[in-house]
Amino acid sequence: MTSVLHRPTDDAKLAGLPQEVRARLQDRFKLVVPSRFAADPAPAPRLDEPASNPAVQPMVSLTNVEKTYDNGSKALAGVNLTVNPGDFLFVTGPSGSGKSTLLKLLYGYERPTDGHILVGDQPIADLRGDRLAMMRRRIGVVFQDYKLIPKRTVSENVAFVLWAQGFTRKEIHRRLWPTLKMVGLQGKAHCFPDELSGGEQQRVSIARAVVSTPPLLLADEPTGNLDAENSLQVIKILRKLNSIGITVIVTTHDEHLVRISNHPVVQIKNGCLHHLRR
Ligand SMILES: Nc1ncnc2c1ncn2[C@@H]1O[C@H](COP(=O)(O)OP(=O)(O)OP(=O)(O)O)[C@@H](O)[C@H]1O
Ligand SMILES: [Mg+2]
Repeated sequence: MTSVLHRPTDDAKLAGLPQEVRARLQDRFKLVVPSRFAADPAPAPRLDEPASNPAVQPMVSLTNVEKTYDNGSKALAGVNLTVNPGDFLFVTGPSGSGKSTLLKLLYGYERPTDGHILVGDQPIADLRGDRLAMMRRRIGVVFQDYKLIPKRTVSENVAFVLWAQGFTRKEIHRRLWPTLKMVGLQGKAHCFPDELSGGEQQRVSIARAVVSTPPLLLADEPTGNLDAENSLQVIKILRKLNSIGITVIVTTHDEHLVRISNHPVVQIKNGCLHHLRR
């Protein structure tokens, strides 16, 4: 099975996080915390370590995954992929190659035709109803078309996620402002989506996806509608999130963005996945 190997994460930043946030990141998938996150440091994982390293519970693991839609359209074929906690992975590939399908399988919006998918230790395709809903709370999703609630302000759009998950008013308030600040939107908290630029709307959608500190963030073409400067800003925000321990999987068409970063890259072509850079 192919594997995305561990990359060093900014330990200093992680150590600087409140204990509660660290615990949440580590806890939510009942993760076996990789050695670099542990209080008692163990040797760093070697680059040639096999994917099946028992010390690390992968964040995402796909084994021989096939996806054919009901109309016969074959989107993915024989996909094997392991993403470990703390990884930042770019998924590239031409239009129609299967990138969105891959993410949809990971948050349980679509089910594979064949093969196995684990998110944390959960076979997401087998989850239904409340169990699937609970699982989805632990996965932040950024959609290319933002999916903001038009009649709600920026802060209401972001707070809504926490409210729906039963967070207290106090906790919502405590989380909302630092998250808006992180995406540079504290000055736009009371604006409605149609009063924002595309880049700002995309940053609201990122804030909404991460305000509950999910350990896994899936971003589908988050820079697809943005100019070069806004795209870079979005990638910087995703990197910042990754540096505090959030695992990030991001699809993009933008070869320039991929070239100027040093993150692992996989390409999907005709439904098959290849590693371009580890
Ligand atoms: N709901 C669906 N029903 C039938 N076929 C679908 C469905 N969704 C996607 N497909 C097909 O599956 C294939 C992969 O689509 P997918 O949306 O994953 O591609 P993509 O790589 O995300 O493309 P893009 O870069 O244009 O967003 C395409 O051939 C597409 O037509
Ligand atoms: Mg797509």
